[in-house]
Amino acid sequence: MPHLIPIDVLQRCLGHVRHGFTIVDARQPDQPLLYVNKAFELLTGYSSEELIGRNCRLLQGNDCNQEGVKTIRAAREAGQPVRVTMRNYHKDGTLFWSDMSLTPIIDEFGVLTHYIGVQEDVTGQRKERVRILRQQRQLQVLAERLMRTEAAERQKLACEVHDQVGQTLALCRMQLGELTRDLGGAEIPPSLGAVCGLVEAALKDTRSLMAELSPPLLRELGLAAALQNMGEQQAQRFGLVVRVSVGLDGKPLPEKVTQLVFRSARELVINVGKHAAAQVVQVGLHVDAGELVLTVEDDGKGFRTRRQVEAADGGFGLWSIRERAVYMGGGLKVSSRVGKGTHVVLRLPLAPKRRNS
Ligand SMILES: Nc1ncnc2c1ncn2[C@@H]1O[C@H](COP(=O)(O)OP(=O)(O)O)[C@@H](O)[C@H]1O
Ligand SMILES: [Mg+2]
Repeated sequence: MPHLIPIDVLQRCLGHVRHGFTIVDARQPDQPLLYVNKAFELLTGYSSEELIGRNCRLLQGNDCNQEGVKTIRAAREAGQPVRVTMRNYHKDGTLFWSDMSLTPIIDEFGVLTHYIGVQEDVTGQRKERVRILRQQRQLQVLAERLMRTEAAERQKLACEVHDQVGQTLALCRMQLGELTRDLGGAEIPPSLGAVCGLVEAALKDTRSLMAELSPPLLRELGLAAALQNMGEQQAQRFGLVVRVSVGLDGKPLPEKVTQLVFRSARELVINVGKHAAAQVVQVGLHVDAGELVLTVEDDGKGFRTRRQVEAADGGFGLWSIRERAVYMGGGLKVSSRVGKGTHVVLRLPLAPKRRNS
């Protein structure tokens, strides 16, 4: 025989429970409240006299068409316990968010006799969550806008380099060519030869600057060629071996995706050049389970990813890739160990998928 607690002791104890506690009589029509504790009175603004004998839906006011109500109904029909967060109303009509657990109590004959409810006001947490979600969304919008502004600015700069410096240099080259021809086979003075060489070098520099600023290959030849080209450029720039392997089935990818993959690959390879002291970097791009997967792996010195993420002055590159990826329904995973290199995986869904809020 289990030890029985005297009813008055039990009642006194429940009166001190911090959460709202209720017992519903499930055998009576319309399942009225049989007991409410002090915390429940404080939570709702109703006295126990006003509550006992009434159904809990009193707290829903006219707001019965909410998800939580449907969830509770389904759980009741299935004879299952349930926990929901739902809108409730104080006696004075003000709204509060209630986190409620409802558990069916079955007697020794298998008959449902009561429900017990435990309830807590979570309005504060709910507001905080909404505020955080709103801020997250603002951040994503900001990241997206930044990406677009950056692309537009790069393109503008590339055009200016082409139209101003590039044109002037091309003109210089033409005139130098005429000058050389005017010499009519006579020996070209060394200073003229040197100027010709300098102009050629400057023209080459403007071309690679234009390609850096706004890669025309991405639009003209597609992602695979643009990645190869980027790999060659960064290999030269940082004295690295860059291996690029692309395994796509040739299906056209949305421009937003190709832009993000290209820019991310470029940022990640530049990161290797700038920070990793690596010898080899492998860039891979393939499709896996409906996702485009970009991997960038190096054999460099690695870094403490946690410290990096937590640092207030943490870099912008990885942050902005992650934000853009998450905005598009994908993600970024950076695995790195000091002395063991870094492995970065960017996943982007091919079919549009937006984060749920
Ligand atoms: N491949 C890598 N190898 C070693 N350290 C890296 C690598 N990639 C990133 N890091 C570290 O992470 C930091 C953040 O990178 P990032 O967000 O791109 O910012 P930034 O390149 O502007 O510093 C870098 O400053 C560097 O310390
Ligand atoms: Mg960087």
